[in-house]
Amino acid sequence: MRKLAAGNWKMNGTAAALDEARTLIAAHPAPTCDMLLCPPATLIAQLSALAKGTSLQVGGQDCHAAASGAHTGDIAAAMLADAGATHVILGHSERRADHGESDADVHAKALAARAAGLIAIICIGETEAQRDAGTTLDVIAAQMASVPVDMTAQNLVIAYEPVWAIGTGRTPTLDQIAEVHAFLRTRLTGRIGTTAAGVRLLYGGSVKPSNAADIFAIPHVDGALVGGASLKAADFGAIVAALSAA
Ligand code: 13P
Repeated sequence: MRKLAAGNWKMNGTAAALDEARTLIAAHPAPTCDMLLCPPATLIAQLSALAKGTSLQVGGQDCHAAASGAHTGDIAAAMLADAGATHVILGHSERRADHGESDADVHAKALAARAAGLIAIICIGETEAQRDAGTTLDVIAAQMASVPVDMTAQNLVIAYEPVWAIGTGRTPTLDQIAEVHAFLRTRLTGRIGTTAAGVRLLYGGSVKPSNAADIFAIPHVDGALVGGASLKAADFGAIVAALSAA
């Protein structure tokens, strides 16, 4: 399986930030893992143009479940593909919290992404209260409802992002990550069948150059979804290098 280093710029970056992507591509012309950046929607077309023919792939951060229509401010999956995106992040905890997205919403968006030829990166993860209550695996099991049962390793990536580890500098222990990822592989196999063996399972939440190698050594961790550290080419490049070496 080819691993995936994915960067989520969230609501950060204007055209000036494209210089970071140029630097990243120049420093990592042929990584042995996939390298993806998901910039704000306003930069997808420009980033896709400069990434064309390079080691860098480009994705969106969300899409609407409908193909078109009266949905002011939203973006259809086919529009992302038209702008050059190959992937789309779905069900990020910030979308679930800020926009009330449910597992059913994420499921519908994943079908739309697949119909447009995009790879869906579906995000799941427990809150701190859920971890403290000992219900992490129950939460993960329930969030499997976000995943359409006929998705495959070709059109699906799962990102495990504990909500309390996002942007906080705190991470689960390596054992805690290992527990969730092994559980995830089993549950995903139950849901989509043997193709689950080839689905990249990313860890996300305060991944940085200093902890990347340890996280990438965990079984069933097939890459990372990186927020803050993806904004700087040097930091994200170091994470790409760690994944390439894993
Ligand atoms: P940080 O890497 O900034 O913690 O963000 C993780 C994340 O939410 C990626 O989608």
